[in-house]
Amino acid sequence: MSRLVELDARGPRKLTEEDLHEEKGDVAVCRCGLSESFPFCDGSHRRTADEDADTRYVYDEDGERRAVERIVYADADES
Ligand code: FES
Repeated sequence: MSRLVELDARGPRKLTEEDLHEEKGDVAVCRCGLSESFPFCDGSHRRTADEDADTRYVYDEDGERRAVERIVYADADES
């Protein structure tokens, strides 16, 4: 499984002490790319639990998941 994720950040997000979870004292960084609180995990990764290992997915703005067969580049040669 893999998924295509759109991100618009152009630089790093430096973590501070305020980013630590109040009770757990740790920071969970999102690796699935679906978090509404990116770069922090908000539990959205649960939506990936039933993804098929051999399928590539795209999640739209409404959270709807679609399987993608291939990527077409905007500057691809159409000939
Ligand atoms: S790892 Fe992405 S929301 Fe948890």
